[in-house]
Amino acid sequence: MAEINPQAVHDEMVAIAYEAGRMILAANPADLDTGTKLNSVDIVTEADQAVEKMVSTRLANSFPSFSFMGEETYKPGMKLGPEPTFVVDPIDGTTNFIHSFPNACISLGLAVERSPAVGVIYNPWQDLLFTAIKGKGAYMTRIKGTTPQKLPLAKSPRPLQGIGTSLIAIEWGSGRDGPNFELKTDVFKKLAASRETGGSMVQSLRSLGSAALNTAAVAAGQLDAYWEGGCWAWDVCAGWCILTEAGGRMVSGNPGNWEPELESRVYLAVRGAPTGQTELVEEFWKVVGDRKMDYSV
Ligand code: IPD
Ligand code: CA
Repeated sequence: MAEINPQAVHDEMVAIAYEAGRMILAANPADLDTGTKLNSVDIVTEADQAVEKMVSTRLANSFPSFSFMGEETYKPGMKLGPEPTFVVDPIDGTTNFIHSFPNACISLGLAVERSPAVGVIYNPWQDLLFTAIKGKGAYMTRIKGTTPQKLPLAKSPRPLQGIGTSLIAIEWGSGRDGPNFELKTDVFKKLAASRETGGSMVQSLRSLGSAALNTAAVAAGQLDAYWEGGCWAWDVCAGWCILTEAGGRMVSGNPGNWEPELESRVYLAVRGAPTGQTELVEEFWKVVGDRKMDYSV
């Protein structure tokens, strides 16, 4: 097993994130070649590919014995092994990026034994950096060079008091038909609907357009929870480390699994709180009911 210096990995990831941020801001989405993958809403641009190339080259130079899994070089059937593996999304929020909607990021994770060990997320439009090393806490830096703030942002986070008082992130994803889509839209409706009509009447729903930034916002305590099916290990690896280091919890988006795998594709992130975390998960799972999202094919 390759020797790991998590601080060195973190420092290199932060340097890479800032370089990626410069590349992303310099790219004018209007001038970029844009292609699609699964369907017309699963988009990839030249910038996604160029950033991933830069990231994988730098990481291979600095940590030659570690493995690499990136969104743009992933091939169906690839699986995370137990060895230290960089799990990277060069641009998370590609749809926002091509629309110049300023909410996308680079997401750099390190998984060891298939578990998130270091995470760095950087949104260059807002110069907003989230970082964590397992066992060493999570931080947010608003402008490069300023003092990092420890996460969660609140010194004494409020108790979670159930879904009805929560601000919850959901995402539409790229699958727009079939049982997973039906389940998602039904859950969205139940979350929003009034209690008189059998709903949870959440305070509101948000879709930031980036799984990594949704998870980081839960870690910061700006959102109470984030639920999604269909995203990938590179969407959540870095955010997962940041979330748990901030006192939050990642469980399965499908009812019943408190310890989901990094590659399980179905997630529910809940913010840190002195009380109410377990109850919020259980209440959310009741909304999902006895159905399960299935991304096995
Ligand atoms: C997507 C974004 C989106 C989420 C999808 C992801 P991409 O990643 O994170 O918010 O709903 O599940 O695949 O395509 O922008 O890298
Ligand atoms: Ca992504």
